[in-house]
Amino acid sequence: MSGDLGPALPEDQFRRLAHETADIVADYLAGIRQDPVVRVMPDTVRRRLKEQELGDDSVSAAQLVQEIREFVLPYPMGNGHPRFFGWINSAPAPVGILAEMLVAAQNPSADVGDIAALHVETAVLEWFKDLMGFPSAAAGILISGGTMATLTGLAAARQWVAESDGWDVRRDGVRPPDGRRLLVYVSEETHSSVRKAVELLGLGSSALRTVEVDDGYRMDPDALARRIERDAELGERPFCVVATAGTVNSGAIDPLARIADICDRHGLWLHIDGAYGAIARTHPRVAPELRGIARADSLSIDPHKWLSVPVECGCALVRDGELLRRTFAYVPPYLHTEEGVGIGGPDFAQYGFQQTRGFRALKLWAVLRHMGLRGLREMIGRHLALARELAALIDDAPDLHMAAPVTLSVVAFRYVPAGATDDPEALNRLNRAIEAEVQNDGRVFLTTTRLRGRLVLRACVLHYDTRSEDLVELVHVVREVGAALAAKGASDPSWPSMEAEGT
Ligand SMILES: Cc1ncc(COP(=O)(O)O)c(C=O)c1O
Repeated sequence: MSGDLGPALPEDQFRRLAHETADIVADYLAGIRQDPVVRVMPDTVRRRLKEQELGDDSVSAAQLVQEIREFVLPYPMGNGHPRFFGWINSAPAPVGILAEMLVAAQNPSADVGDIAALHVETAVLEWFKDLMGFPSAAAGILISGGTMATLTGLAAARQWVAESDGWDVRRDGVRPPDGRRLLVYVSEETHSSVRKAVELLGLGSSALRTVEVDDGYRMDPDALARRIERDAELGERPFCVVATAGTVNSGAIDPLARIADICDRHGLWLHIDGAYGAIARTHPRVAPELRGIARADSLSIDPHKWLSVPVECGCALVRDGELLRRTFAYVPPYLHTEEGVGIGGPDFAQYGFQQTRGFRALKLWAVLRHMGLRGLREMIGRHLALARELAALIDDAPDLHMAAPVTLSVVAFRYVPAGATDDPEALNRLNRAIEAEVQNDGRVFLTTTRLRGRLVLRACVLHYDTRSEDLVELVHVVREVGAALAAKGASDPSWPSMEAEGT
């Protein structure tokens, strides 16, 4: 096919290729379980992509589909596989995949106007407000992920403190007239995105006050209260606490209600990072620990984590919707909303930083409606149970030790061979080597993190099709690889794969 048409494609060709693509996708999804979790791209393919030139001539759409099938599809990140236990990345729900294609066909910018994309976004945000116990005056926005949701929530917090203390952050920047330092309280287990947000908002990472955690890796509320009181006495301006509902390292849930009480008592903004765990509020088993989410001033939720909505899909909710609008709203003349399709339509561009915005709501709307609340509760309940099952398998294995309590669906543990020395670095090296070898092996996939400075393996159960036998395989592979590496001396300082690490 020549390139004379620009990007256009004759209808019959589009239809044929769309059907073919649908078959490729269906075959891919049906075959995932039989494939290795990840497959490293061979050098030949890598070179081919790197050296490929963008020539003058058109490449046919049919050839492109074949090239994608051959050079892209076989080398995924692995999170579509039921034995992928890395980080906090889920598989895409099939109805989400369908929605992505339909969204691309319509291709709206979900910023302003009386258009379907914005009405669907309004609808899903209402559901989230309801599920999280937020009032009707709250406002929200769908955004790329948890990091951006936290940036949005903390931007609202900064707007709030400026308005409360009588200065104008949008006009003057971060310059409290009384010169007091604005402080943000986090725990040792807070996600790195909070630091990035605080830096980007001009507060500076030295504004962060890190509060100790208890044995369950939850923020210690007494220590938090003490630090706030001391800083206030020193003439600083404590203004925001970031609590976590499901930490990335171990799935711990901070004592949200007690932290909310402290924020009320001291007049502080409470942001809850529920990127991973907030959605578990729908399950009765963990709902009591997550009830305090309803007291947050702002909340991050990440539907591209536990909800299996295809990446990217995050969500920020702010209790005071008008405040969120004042944080971001700016309507230039070319975006006036007084007439035409702008009339009465939602204007999400005024509630966040982006102007042109993807129609993220459709995949979220489709996934939520397809599961329904019963399906959602069932999936979360299954993951909670599988995580406990994995912990039991670990407890039964003499060379595996649990490293943190299981609260949600993250299981943190270590491989400790019989007769291991008590040199902590030796065990760190061995567990790091296990991570790398397990990932290369391809039967299962897991990652590592640090808890109190110790390197631990961590497995997060998040795939809708992970089964008990996958957990048995995970434990089997880790023990097999661990034993082989321990025998080869992977805990030795000269072991090659150990890089210098921070914590
Ligand atoms: C607790 C927590 N907060 C924030 C994030 C960041 O979310 P995202 O990667 O969607 O930006 C993550 C990611 O894993 C997380 O686990």
